[in-house]
Amino acid sequence: MKNQSDSGGKLLLITIDGPAGAGKTTVSRMLSDRLGYKYIDTGSLYRGVAREAKKAGIGHDDDAGLEMLCGSLRLEFVQDTDGPHLFSNGFDINGEIRTPEMSMLASAVSARPVVRKYLLTLQRELGKGKGAVFEGRDMGTVVFPGADIKFYLNASVKTRAIRRYKELSDKKDSSTIEEIERDIRRRDENDSTRTLAPLKPAEDAIKIDSTDLDVEFVVNLMISHVQKHLMQ
Ligand code: DC
Repeated sequence: MKNQSDSGGKLLLITIDGPAGAGKTTVSRMLSDRLGYKYIDTGSLYRGVAREAKKAGIGHDDDAGLEMLCGSLRLEFVQDTDGPHLFSNGFDINGEIRTPEMSMLASAVSARPVVRKYLLTLQRELGKGKGAVFEGRDMGTVVFPGADIKFYLNASVKTRAIRRYKELSDKKDSSTIEEIERDIRRRDENDSTRTLAPLKPAEDAIKIDSTDLDVEFVVNLMISHVQKHLMQ
């Protein structure tokens, strides 16, 4: 049974946007746990499309191929002991979508309108009924412009690269900090300069720079905003 004491049982829709490595995943998981809400990592969905496109031999800029792929794709989250796992057409693909290659490919397919259109519908479907924390790039700006509370989490490129390095070395990935920093800069550039739903804070987002903050502090800060909202 999830703890709902920090939300008083009220169901809000909360969005957390920001660049790669800003700490969104850890913070979103902890925040959703404290509120008793579900947690949706929308980056996984883009990674899922990227993985399936690669498997089917569809190029990241092949719009006709991507459209056909999305038309027959069934992506869903299934709760496991270590959190939600992404399933594609009934298969658990969670272990395959977190590689540096999938990160770059997800960033590339995420710029294609056919992919964004497909995932927009799916994400809004998942948000019905509220009681959720959605993590991504355009949650507060495009997918849920009417969200109850919007956060934009950022950190310096160096800090983000070090965090990703630790995360990847735990998974026995041999990427160097320099390679990770280069990939993060390229992804920032791709994600924030694309025409469709670029990475940027919503006008009404609460901006948090986590460079010098630990996760507990960030989550407590977010909880204080949630409680303020609930008292309004
Ligand atoms: O959050 P992540 O690193 O798992 O996301 C992978 C890529 O997916 C990211 O580089 C950009 C894209 N993405 C997006 O365009 N919109 C989202 N809401 C989430 C992710």
